[in-house]
Amino acid sequence: MVSGLSQSVFGTEFQTPVLLASGTCGYGREYAGLIPLDELGGLVTKAVSVEPRTGNPPHRVAETPGGMINAIGLENVGLDAFIEEKLPWLRENLARAKVLVNVIGRTTDEYAAVVAGLDEEEGFLGYEINVSCPNVRGGTLFGTDEAALGELVARLRRESERPLIVKLTPNVPDIGVYARICEENGADGLSTINTFPGMLIDIRRRRPVIGNVSGGISGPAILPMGVYLTWRAARSCSIPVIGIGGIRSADDALQYILAGATLVQIGTSSFVDPAAAVTVQQGIAAFLESEGVEAVSELVGGLRTSDSAEGSAPAQG
Ligand SMILES: Cc1cc2nc3c(=O)[nH]c(=O)nc-3n(C[C@H](O)[C@H](O)[C@H](O)COP(=O)(O)O)c2cc1C
Repeated sequence: MVSGLSQSVFGTEFQTPVLLASGTCGYGREYAGLIPLDELGGLVTKAVSVEPRTGNPPHRVAETPGGMINAIGLENVGLDAFIEEKLPWLRENLARAKVLVNVIGRTTDEYAAVVAGLDEEEGFLGYEINVSCPNVRGGTLFGTDEAALGELVARLRRESERPLIVKLTPNVPDIGVYARICEENGADGLSTINTFPGMLIDIRRRRPVIGNVSGGISGPAILPMGVYLTWRAARSCSIPVIGIGGIRSADDALQYILAGATLVQIGTSSFVDPAAAVTVQQGIAAFLESEGVEAVSELVGGLRTSDSAEGSAPAQG
């Protein structure tokens, strides 16, 4: 892989800035034989919870204009099976691509149990903490409750010295506030963003298309929101940000990088073309060459704006 693609972050070297996003690449093995997985920057596993989860009733996915809706319900094998059945494959087959384990819980204790249970294991770099899950205490999402989020990040920081990356929900008035809470409580990085809430209605049956009624919207339709929220998060804190949302091409990924992302993740696009992430990283390399830029790191946060363009409140029209 081209040397200019590597990024030094989270105490290690990612050979490229492109990772596969959580929930869209299983536990890695699902992509074996389809793409040269070990040539990517890395991958983020499906969410891992303390107990196995069966997920939501069907339908769990459907196409939307410019993307898809999903309400999988965080179906996963649970911590024990992840350690016994999934992690060994990642350990044995990925020498260069970095693995982040996506973690989910209903309470702070549940998140902490997953991190504590995994921490001594080998085969992964660190954690991506998915805070888009209802917390039992208040019923809101950890990611929309400032106090609960701060408490969670501080607790997980005490459980592990590995990279702790918090994956934020876009569903807040100012993502910068949540970015700062994560940084102040010891997070090493942020992932922006998770899916947007949405729904589809089957007008003949007068029923929701998705079994769970509502779901998360992903894919190209969310690209501009993801770029904006990544920019907002990156300028609100000093920890590295991973940009996610609707990336299909190198141009899309470069928008995130100029907005301030150190790494990017590809989700829904892999369902259309399993090799999308490979194409994106090749395209970034071609862009560096054509622009005479030596290293992708030079482009991070390189967006040029006028001083007055603060972008604090989105302009209406
Ligand atoms: C089918 C599906 C399952 C997902 N599962 C998870 C998950 O388990 N944990 C998580 O943090 N994000 C999950 N996501 C969100 C993605 O990782 C990503 O943040 C989102 O889809 C936006 O990126 P994209 O537009 O490139 O897909 C899931 C997305 C999809 C489409």
